[in-house]
Amino acid sequence: MGESRKQKAARLERETADLLGLTPIAKPSGPKAGDAAGNRTARQVPAGEGQRAGDKDTAKLLETALRYSEREERYTHGFHSYPAALHPDAARDLLALGEGKVLDPFCGGGTVLVEAMAAGREALGCDLGAIPCLVARARTTRTDEAARTVMRTAARAAAEVALKASSTQVLPEDAPPEVRRAYLPHVAAELHALRTAIGNDPLLRAVLSAIVVKVSRRSSDTHQVLVDEDRPSGTTATLFHKKAREFARMLETVEGYTTPARVHREDAREVRLDGYGMVVTSPPYPGVYDYAPIQSLRRYWLGLDDVSTLHKEIGSRRAFRAGRAEALAEWRNDTAKWIRASHKALAPGGRLIIVVGDGQVGGKRIDAWTVHDEAARALGMRWVARASVERWDPGMEAVRWEHAGLWEKPL
Ligand SMILES: C[S@@+](CC[C@H](N)C(=O)[O-])C[C@H]1O[C@@H](n2cnc3c(N)ncnc32)[C@H](O)[C@@H]1O
Repeated sequence: MGESRKQKAARLERETADLLGLTPIAKPSGPKAGDAAGNRTARQVPAGEGQRAGDKDTAKLLETALRYSEREERYTHGFHSYPAALHPDAARDLLALGEGKVLDPFCGGGTVLVEAMAAGREALGCDLGAIPCLVARARTTRTDEAARTVMRTAARAAAEVALKASSTQVLPEDAPPEVRRAYLPHVAAELHALRTAIGNDPLLRAVLSAIVVKVSRRSSDTHQVLVDEDRPSGTTATLFHKKAREFARMLETVEGYTTPARVHREDAREVRLDGYGMVVTSPPYPGVYDYAPIQSLRRYWLGLDDVSTLHKEIGSRRAFRAGRAEALAEWRNDTAKWIRASHKALAPGGRLIIVVGDGQVGGKRIDAWTVHDEAARALGMRWVARASVERWDPGMEAVRWEHAGLWEKPL
C-alpha cells in the first residue's frame, strides 16, 4: 500500500529532524508564522501572572517591558524575523533605564541596536551567528537616497532575472537533501538566480535572507516541520522585489540617526571591552532553541558558515537533549563567563539588564533567574530589581516564566 498524505508528512518531518539532529517540537496548525494572519511568535503572546521584587519603580518598568506583545514595525523592526527577538518597545524602555554607550553581547537580529540608534546612543552588538550579524548590520545601516535608489534598481534587475529562471525548475547542483526537500523546484531556481544576481550586496543579501524560509516548505523559522506549499512560479522573485522596496522605505527612517551601531561576530564570553554605560541583552534561554541549526536554509542560500561556532552556542536545545546534568553545568559556567565579560565592559556605575526565560527540558523547569542573579552578584554587582511574568509559548506548548533583571556595577 502506498504512503498516505499524513504518513508522508510524518516521514518528511522525521527525516528533516534527523538531518538537523533535532526533534520537531510541535506541529503548527495555522498559516506560517510571520504571515499577516500567521501564528504569533512566543514574544507576541500576551503575558499572564506577574511578580516584582527590589526597587519598586524599576521593577514596575521592567514588568511593563516584559508585557509588550503587539507587533511593532517602526524603523527596521518588522523587516526580518528572528527567534526570541526582544520587543522593540521593551528595548526602548530598558535603554531608558541607563546612560552611555550600549553593549548587547547577544544581539540577534539587532533590536537593541536599532533602538539605541534611535535614542542617539552609541551601540555595539555581538553574536556568534553569521545570519544574526548579517541581519543586525543590515537593519542598522545608514543609507542616503542615492544608495537606496541603487538598492531598488539592483533588486528589480535581480527579480527580473529570477522571473525568467523560474521556468527552468532546476535545483542548484550543490543543494543538500535538506534544501532539496524544502523547496519546490521553480522556487529553488528563482532563489538561485536571485543569489547570483545580487552578488555581495549586504542589504540585498539580508532581503534574500528575509524571504528564504517564507518561500520554503518549512512551516516557520523555529519549526523544522515541512508542509505542503503551493507557491506559484514567479512569486518568489516578486516577493523579493517587494521586500527590497519595503526595506528601502524602512531604511529611510533610520537615515537621520547620528550615532552608528557596530556589529561584531564574536563569542559573548570573549568580548574584551570597557567604558560601556549599559549592557542590555537577552541571552539564549536554556534548552529552548538551537540558534545555528535553525538558520540552515539561510546559510545555504547565502553561502555562510556557522559550523565552526556550533559548539560555542550557549544553552542550546541539542546540548540539553544530549545530557541534562552536563548541559546544565556547562550553561551555568557559560553564563558566569559572559556576565564576567560584560561586567568588565561596564564603567563604574554602569547597568546590566538581562531579559531571559526559564528552560523547559524533559518536562522540567530550568530556573534561569537564579543562575543569572548569582553570577552577577558573585562579581560584586548590586542587584536593583526584578520582574517576572508567565507566558504561554505556542512552540513549546508550555508556560514559562520570563524575567527581566537590573544590576549595577558599584562606583
Ligand atoms: C535570545 S537571542 C537574542 C535576540 C535579540 N535580542 C533580538 O532582539 O533579535 C540569543 C542570541 O544569542 C546568540 N548566541 C548564542 N550563544 C552565543 C555566544 N556564545 N556568544 C554570542 N552570541 C551567542 C544566538 O545566536 C542568538 O542570536
